[in-house]
Amino acid sequence: MRIKLDSVSGFSGKTGIPGDKSVSHRSLIFGAIADGTTEVSNLLDSGDVRSTELCLRALGAEFKRTQDRVLVTGRGLHGLHASEEILDCGNSGTTIRTMMGLLAGQSFSSRMTGDQSIQRRPMKRAAEPLRKMGAQIELTRDDFAPVTIRGTNLVGVDYDLKVASAQVKTALLLAGLYASGTTTIRGSIGTRDHTERMLPHFGVRIRKTASEISITSGQKLTASPVRVPGDPSSAAFWMGAASIVKGGMVEIENVCLNPTRTGFFEVLRRMGAKIEEEITCESPEPIGNIRVTCQSLRATEVSPEEIPSMVDEVPLLAIVASQAEGTTIVHGAEELRVKESDRLEAVATNLRAMGAKIETFKDGYSITGPQKLNGAVINSFDDHRIAMSFAVASLIAKGTTEIENHECVMISYPKFFEVLRRLSRA
Ligand code: S3P
Repeated sequence: MRIKLDSVSGFSGKTGIPGDKSVSHRSLIFGAIADGTTEVSNLLDSGDVRSTELCLRALGAEFKRTQDRVLVTGRGLHGLHASEEILDCGNSGTTIRTMMGLLAGQSFSSRMTGDQSIQRRPMKRAAEPLRKMGAQIELTRDDFAPVTIRGTNLVGVDYDLKVASAQVKTALLLAGLYASGTTTIRGSIGTRDHTERMLPHFGVRIRKTASEISITSGQKLTASPVRVPGDPSSAAFWMGAASIVKGGMVEIENVCLNPTRTGFFEVLRRMGAKIEEEITCESPEPIGNIRVTCQSLRATEVSPEEIPSMVDEVPLLAIVASQAEGTTIVHGAEELRVKESDRLEAVATNLRAMGAKIETFKDGYSITGPQKLNGAVINSFDDHRIAMSFAVASLIAKGTTEIENHECVMISYPKFFEVLRRLSRA
């Protein structure tokens, strides 16, 4: 289905934000292998998180919903059982890759697959390091789902991670719980660190320095309540919108302000947006309220080191950059080519459809602004972040913008269009 969106004269107001997707996945996975019942509040209720829940249910974990909480009754570290069916990870890369690590050290075999997008995304990045630990993993055409995992005894390794991926890092830490000895990860470990923060919250000891993370086997997880903070990647859409609509201002409550996630906030600040933060909680995840006010924007250069902390916001940044004075250049974002869609291509195709100029590189893009945008038919490529980024663009585009398959926002932000309407002034 298509949604029609018109430009707005204002964008302002106050809003909460749904629970963080990454923290939600982890709270369910860790809850499922913990001893006891984990009470999760503000869990994101979205397609991706449901995929994780369904897989864990099939493996024996129990879930119960109360009015505002989800209770996960864990099976302990060794209590999961084989699923009778192939585990369907839907659209969720986090589900399939992290669970490869969880399943590699079990006493049973599993099969996992997902939708067409998942079946096009690379899985070898998780399978390869796990194989070094002794995991028996078969991939389709050497890199893709469906995936077969024959559970076996694993041994701890010292692994130099080449791809900056929190999903792979999490897969290795989960496998490390089941492997003999110590598992150490070095290299590209500077990605979102929710796993490293949450495992100690469940009583697991992790050793972490600037250059390595280690976990030692045989440690049990003990159920512990998790309050999921608001998702900064969802908040980013309202921050971007308030920055490009004249007179825009939004206040967003209870946002996760973990520095491994707030790269986009820093870049937006550098471009001239006014961003005020009030921290309300420090640990295990920093949380706070933010207020963003529109001010004139100038272009910036984003370096490869900044990408991991804003990897999901790079499409949105292109929309903001189209309204900033000067040339914004992004490098080091080659990972975007293997997300739910080829996000660099999707951004370029749709910005061009709106009449804007953008140059893409293998690992990024360059956009000179400010440029006028025209309403157009947007191909979401069934990718939630593309649909939401271009809904933000529609706010300042002349005429009507139509977003195809806009329902894909269900993956991470089911109420996105409702909130968009509430904050928009006709
Ligand atoms: C995620 C990690 C990121 C991110 C994804 C969620 C996670 O992927 O893009 O939306 O929860 O670990 P990579 O780890 O592949 O970069």
